[in-house]
Amino acid sequence: MIIVKSPREIELMKEAGRLVAKVFETVEPHIKAGVSTYELNKIAEDVIYAAGGSCPCKGYYDYPAGTCVSVNDTLIHGIPSKKIILREGDIVSLDVVACLHGYCADATRTFGVGILKDSVKQLMQVTKDAFYKGIEKAKPDNHVGDISNAIQEYVEAHGYSVARDFTGHGIGKSMHEDPSVPNYGIPGTGALLKAGMALAIEPMILEGKKETRVLGDGWTVKSRDGKLTCHYENTIIITESGNEIITLTEGEKNINV
Ligand code: MF3
Ligand code: CO
Repeated sequence: MIIVKSPREIELMKEAGRLVAKVFETVEPHIKAGVSTYELNKIAEDVIYAAGGSCPCKGYYDYPAGTCVSVNDTLIHGIPSKKIILREGDIVSLDVVACLHGYCADATRTFGVGILKDSVKQLMQVTKDAFYKGIEKAKPDNHVGDISNAIQEYVEAHGYSVARDFTGHGIGKSMHEDPSVPNYGIPGTGALLKAGMALAIEPMILEGKKETRVLGDGWTVKSRDGKLTCHYENTIIITESGNEIITLTEGEKNINV
């Protein structure tokens, strides 16, 4: 069942969204060669706890950290570790869910470490643009499959793959609610969208083949072919006229994507 949020609930979700954005603003200057993914997670958690928020990922099926920090061929669910140290040319995604006053917001940014190859920049740009292609379809009376298809078509037209085993999702009091929002699908299928629904739309993109594997830690998801991966995510609210993104940083709001 898809929960339609009241205006009051949407206000609370926006507060959670601002907190997630603040995490990105705080962590980004620390993304440099030599820093560990443990340190990045610690900075992120500290921002959330200092604001009185909570991290629903921590303890979710025993997941051990507040955020996921995924480097290069790790697509999602990288467990922060003192042993994973960023190097020049890496890309690192930070997936942040924060709950505040009972409501959650969820977003992911992939950052570059130092100077990146053009092919890596292109992967990052296509992943972000795929999100925007998807949300062009996120409006009342469209279907979830319209979003999914737009993401898939855009990504595959650039020669990349979309992950199959992991999806975006509804969000609200819980970080995962109905519906699931795959990054692949058929237009006109899936749940009907209505104003007041909240969705986490999250293209998870592989530079090479679509297959993934999960490491023995039970969490870390990597590309099977060892090629690069990228992830970009925002929480959006379906509005009468389309949608509103609630997890953008102030800097991002000032740039016309
Ligand atoms: N942001 C992730 C998601 O969209 C949160 C899950 S992380 C987990 O599903 F580690 F808690 F699973
Ligand atoms: Co999510």
